Amino acid sequence: MKHLLCYSLFVMLIVSMHGGEAFAAEKPSVEKGHLLFNSQSLAGAPSGKSCAGCHPAGEGLENAWKNPNLVGRVNTCIAGPLRGSKLNENSIEMQSLIMYIRSLKQQH
Ligand code: HEC
Repeated sequence: MKHLLCYSLFVMLIVSMHGGEAFAAEKPSVEKGHLLFNSQSLAGAPSGKSCAGCHPAGEGLENAWKNPNLVGRVNTCIAGPLRGSKLNENSIEMQSLIMYIRSLKQQH
């Protein structure tokens, strides 16, 4: 019985470590990029607009992965229409947005 209790505490610890938000916040992901793309407060932007407001579901960005300066292009939209602050190339936010945009690449 005591072992069982120890075991379940251990499992709970592992689950909380891996399922916790702090853990998820540490690495970029397509899912995170998707959330940011739809966020109306990306990069502290006061405009109330999201990327999706002008690029619904990423429409029109299917070929953006070819852009050699994709980070710069994304920052142009952030600083321009969104009126936010440019994101650092290596930030989790930018990396996630890039991953999301690359995921829009057409499969054929
Ligand atoms: C007010 C409207 C507006 C908002 C908001 C906006 N964009 Fe754009 N975006 C544009 C326009 C207009 C273009 C130029 C379209 C073109 O080149 O065909 C563009 C172009 C781009 C491109 C280049 C496409 C390509 O094929 O090279 C990328 C990438 C992009 N936007 C990403 C974003 C991201 C990410 C956000 C959110 C941070 C965002 N945009 C927010 C209007 C907007």
